[in-house]
Amino acid sequence: MEARKRLRWTVIWCFILMWWSLGLTDGSEQKPIRQSVKKPNIIFILTDDQDLHMDSLSYMPFLKEHVADHGTSLQRHYCTVALCCPSRVSMWTGKAAHNTNVTDLHPPWGGYPKFVRQGFNGAYLPVWLQDAGYNTYYVGKLLNAQSTSNYDNPHAAGWTGSDFLLDPYTYEYYNATFQRNHDSPISYQGRYSTDVMAEKALGFLDDALEVDRPFFLTIAPTAPHSNVHIKDDTAEQSMARPAKRHEHLFEDAKVPRTPNFNPDRPGGASWILTLPLQNQSNLDYNDEWYRNRLRALQAVDEMIDSVVNRLEKAGMLENSYLFFSTDNGYSIGQHRRQPGKQCAFEEDVNIPLIVRGPGIPKGYRTEIVTSHIDLAPTFLSLAGVSEAEMTKYELDGSVIPLHVLDSMPSEQPWPQEHVNVEMWGIIMSEGRYGYILYPNHTYKALRVIGTGYDLLYTVWCSNEHELYDMTKDRWQMDNIYDAGSRPFNIAMPTAGLSNQSPHASSFTSTGQVLSIANISTTISRLVARLDALLLVLKTCKKDECRFPWSALHPAGGVRSLREALDSRFDEFYRTRPKVQYERCERGYLPASEGAMWDDGMSFRAMEHEVWTGP
Ligand SMILES: *[C@@H]1O[C@H](CO)[C@@H](O)[C@H](O)[C@H]1NC(C)=O
Ligand SMILES: *[C@@H]1O[C@H](CO)[C@@H](O)[C@H](O)[C@H]1NC(C)=O
Ligand SMILES: *[C@@H]1O[C@H](CO)[C@@H](O)[C@H](O)[C@H]1NC(C)=O
Ligand SMILES: *[C@@H]1O[C@H](CO)[C@@H](O)[C@H](O)[C@H]1NC(C)=O
Ligand SMILES: *[C@@H]1O[C@H](CO)[C@@H](O)[C@H](O)[C@H]1NC(C)=O
Repeated sequence: MEARKRLRWTVIWCFILMWWSLGLTDGSEQKPIRQSVKKPNIIFILTDDQDLHMDSLSYMPFLKEHVADHGTSLQRHYCTVALCCPSRVSMWTGKAAHNTNVTDLHPPWGGYPKFVRQGFNGAYLPVWLQDAGYNTYYVGKLLNAQSTSNYDNPHAAGWTGSDFLLDPYTYEYYNATFQRNHDSPISYQGRYSTDVMAEKALGFLDDALEVDRPFFLTIAPTAPHSNVHIKDDTAEQSMARPAKRHEHLFEDAKVPRTPNFNPDRPGGASWILTLPLQNQSNLDYNDEWYRNRLRALQAVDEMIDSVVNRLEKAGMLENSYLFFSTDNGYSIGQHRRQPGKQCAFEEDVNIPLIVRGPGIPKGYRTEIVTSHIDLAPTFLSLAGVSEAEMTKYELDGSVIPLHVLDSMPSEQPWPQEHVNVEMWGIIMSEGRYGYILYPNHTYKALRVIGTGYDLLYTVWCSNEHELYDMTKDRWQMDNIYDAGSRPFNIAMPTAGLSNQSPHASSFTSTGQVLSIANISTTISRLVARLDALLLVLKTCKKDECRFPWSALHPAGGVRSLREALDSRFDEFYRTRPKVQYERCERGYLPASEGAMWDDGMSFRAMEHEVWTGP
């Protein structure tokens, strides 16, 4: 397995080197040697609660012009927890939430104090980037519960320069509190938070450009999150607030009326199944909520324009990577939900990731499956840290092969077809009609996307299950979990494995290509595979998270759901322990989460079932 991985990376590196050498020999584009050998800068713009599925990107023309048109949009990028703080901690540490145990916004389950207590303040991305020779800068919201009373106890580590938004004023668009380096917090009452942030970001950019060192700069505005005013321990949530100059834009915009928007019958599981149809007053209010999100994003879009112009003026645009993403997705009205996040539905978990930079395909869209835990390893790789050096950071994610997305050799496809989404605790929706808190919002979910299949499988702490076949039911309206004996067929792709289509790996550990045939099975056989995959992923660490099928089949031969569906494995999967909960808990208490994966449960361990390959 090691040898195969090395081979894959050798091939990918060859492509990167080829790309560079092509660039260098293209006369007019030639850059001074110093610049081309210098490590690249990385600028990461991270919004808060932005959707991919309600069209918000269409309202950001500068993002399109400067980043998307010059770079690649990763259409199947996912967060691994659809809630700000846990999602960010997983992103900054490159670890699944079950390995960070930062699972909520506030202690004891989450928040900045929990991040510190878990030992991550000395062991997360900015510290590692500094070790790789980078100057690191941060403006905006880092983590929830980093506040005016605990920001210096201790200070967030790893930043050459920082200017953090602090609770309880993080989401006050017109009364933000920022805290710079080791200075005291400063209140910006009356000023528009994103505009203040843009000034600060350009300031850090100037600092960074003055020094002869590569830099990493994150700009993390609160838009388009709701405005939150905290007083005497009560949080008053209202619509996102735009800058004055954007207040009257998009008067006609409405949440897209997709088939799953306020549908005639309820869907999902647990509390979602009990939601009433929304009436006209509710719909009107939520549409205004939506418009204010779009308006609040305008100042972010303008900031992107200023940052790119500044880089261009300094002659540094070509040696810089720009990443645009958000912490988690957002939902308004789909499945009758009030504004909010935290579910495993596509609106909440499938989020924007757009990247431009040297050697990255321009104006390109890719369908490879990636997640937020892949970002730390990807940034480290751009900073020149090798995968061997990265092993000491115990990352659960993979390096995204950004430079070869449009030329991935079909015999060496991206192996990842799964995303594990986790959640613990209580769900809180927003807006005038969304104040109800639902407890027991604890679940484990699995997205699997490969050639001929596109699935969401969820197990709730109530032991309810959901299964959606998104090749036929894109809007996740028809839970087919209970239709056990119904046939489930996967057709062979008609034009072979295309670079553009989602593809699972299709060859054995010895490099032998398996024939890809149509598969006829049943939903219960499919569920047995998905459940076993989830059993591995709910406790996985490092390689197990990247190659879960190899944990199930350590002797090789199975690298994808398609291969695992072979009827020779029916008995093996039928008899695996199932994912189930003993109880609903507020956080990650393993004793309440049923069977845990161990190597003894793998296929190799079943002597009477040794399979010798096709
Ligand atoms: C604005 O924030 C400051 C603290 O930074 C606080 O003292 C003040 O009361 C806030 N103003 C309003 C109107 O909430
Ligand atoms: C609409 O629904 C909300 C929430 O259920 C309710 O409070 C309100 O009274 C309803 N309005 C009308 C006009 O029916
Ligand atoms: C696989 O299924 C597709 C779609 O149902 C069909 O067109 C094709 O002929 C099948 N191929 C084989 C080899 O059975
Ligand atoms: C939440 O889960 C707990 C423990 O599993 C159970 O006792 C309780 O009745 C559930 N509450 C609701 C509202 O479903
Ligand atoms: C996660 O944190 C909670 C709250 O501190 C704690 O009770 C629980 O035991 C922790 N879980 C693990 C697996 O360490």
